[in-house]
Amino acid sequence: MSELAGKMVAEVATTLETTLETVRLTNDYGMSVEIINFGGRIKSIKFPVNDKPTQMIVGYTSAQDYLKDDFYLGATCGRVCNRIAGGKFKLDSKQYQLPQNDGENCLHGGDDNFSLRYWKIDRENLTSTSVTLSLISPDGDQGFPGELTLSVTYQLNSDNKLSIQYLANTDLATVINLTNHAYFNLGEKNCKSLYLQMMSSSMLETDAANIPTGKIVTIEDTDYDFKEPVCIGDRQHNTQYQSLKAKNGYDQCFVLDKTDFTEPKAILTSLENQISLSVYTDQSAIQLYTGFYLADPFSSYQGLCLEAQNYTDAENNEHFPSNILKPHQEYQRKIIYKFESIT
Ligand code: BGC
Repeated sequence: MSELAGKMVAEVATTLETTLETVRLTNDYGMSVEIINFGGRIKSIKFPVNDKPTQMIVGYTSAQDYLKDDFYLGATCGRVCNRIAGGKFKLDSKQYQLPQNDGENCLHGGDDNFSLRYWKIDRENLTSTSVTLSLISPDGDQGFPGELTLSVTYQLNSDNKLSIQYLANTDLATVINLTNHAYFNLGEKNCKSLYLQMMSSSMLETDAANIPTGKIVTIEDTDYDFKEPVCIGDRQHNTQYQSLKAKNGYDQCFVLDKTDFTEPKAILTSLENQISLSVYTDQSAIQLYTGFYLADPFSSYQGLCLEAQNYTDAENNEHFPSNILKPHQEYQRKIIYKFESIT
């Protein structure tokens, strides 16, 4: 452990190129968040349950275990999160080929994506409630055009909001879609007993490989409708929908209703621990993934991801909101996770 200008920074391992570091953010309520520079990841979110700091997300105990993580635990995913069909897209009439790391498709930015990079901690602006990490992704990185300069800022507020701000610039036209991939269980043993409410009236229809067909389908009164809080495990267990059974749970891109930023887009509740998590975002969609593929040392459904992002495969669907970022434009997106005791 080393003290850095009054802020706790734990140096846990040194590699040839860089040092794995953990930054701890705290507030007066007793909430704490740990961020690691590997993957710009959230390693831990602890919130008091009956005065006991309780882990809200799935994670490894040791920061070093993240170096071989396959599950994108707490990670910043990009340059383009989720899937790009065939790992191919066209931009300004030029064709680009990306790594095909999910069958024939590109997932979360390719096999050497941002969740596997060391990000740089901005030491000058590091405080006990805020940390900014940055990364330069060179032109041609994973096949994407343009040198992308990006940062993520995590800030913990006194009212138990963890806010995530993404900023990025490029020197050539490129595509970008960043998200956070934390798996929430709100201190329960898995996500099955959690209740989810989501302000979404439609979702992207997808094929068996989770690639959008291009159709946006309404979900009112279906097993994809979360307008009223729904117990995740009961829904998954009782569903007669082949599409849900085939995917062993939820792994879909939900289009968010266009409500004000100040309205939560999703609310996750633990009745056992009397906690709710509200997700606020300016992103257009949420990929709800109930964690079927979590495996040793974890288990399926141990946590669920509410990945605020843009529509999947926008690169190959001109009628979806665009992921294109041009020079002199700034990419800016925000996600807030607000924790509340509901007793
Ligand atoms: C995807 C899942 C994938 C997982 C990888 C999610 O964002 O939607 O299909 O298995 O990431 O951890």
